[in-house]
Amino acid sequence: MIKISMVAMGSLVSFFCLLANFSCRKIDYEARALEITKEAKTNLVQKLTNAIAEGGTKQAIPFCKQNVMAFTNNLGTKKGVLLRRISDKPRNPMNLVSDEEKRIFLEISANPTQVGEYPVKTVSTNETVTVYVPIPTSSLCLQCHGEPNVDIKKETLEVLRKEYPGDLARGYQVGNLRGLFSVQFTK
Ligand code: HEC
Repeated sequence: MIKISMVAMGSLVSFFCLLANFSCRKIDYEARALEITKEAKTNLVQKLTNAIAEGGTKQAIPFCKQNVMAFTNNLGTKKGVLLRRISDKPRNPMNLVSDEEKRIFLEISANPTQVGEYPVKTVSTNETVTVYVPIPTSSLCLQCHGEPNVDIKKETLEVLRKEYPGDLARGYQVGNLRGLFSVQFTK
């Protein structure tokens, strides 16, 4: 009798552990990360569009330099996560992927779900859960991230050279994977 109920208890505990692992934790982290990155994307595109409307593309570059990183960091802090934008070919060297992130970047980039769309990836350790959310290139991005002298005007290139001498973030086409949001939760 006792033996049977121990087995039953064991099964019940395993069942709830599985439930906690699969339904609660993973799905909640991913959904939460998608909410946060959606808010970040909406705000960033709005800021970018306003800055371009006010002073043109070349004025928007120093605006991005001064505001975007701070905005991303602050939004992360407000949401209780570490929020970063990372890339294998960054404009700002602070956004360069680590070796581990590069492996994840290449994996996401090589597996589009359809043309110009990429999967989300979640990586867990004992202490953290990190959700990587793809940032594809759209036509709005080309004036600063496209082909020099074709999509990026000469006057824009001059500002880029001055503000970002080590710039790698050019030569993209619509649909290419420009970067990833890394959303890190502490367990
Ligand atoms: C007005 C020019 C401009 C436009 C348009 C623009 N960007 Fe950028 N982008 C920048 C600058 C400048 C930086 C570096 C910001 C910094 O120093 O934090 C940057 C950085 C980034 C980064 C962080 C990684 C890196 O390269 O440092 C990502 C990701 C990114 N841009 C994606 C996009 C996407 C997606 C679009 C289109 C929706 C876009 N950008 C449009 C100028 C632009």
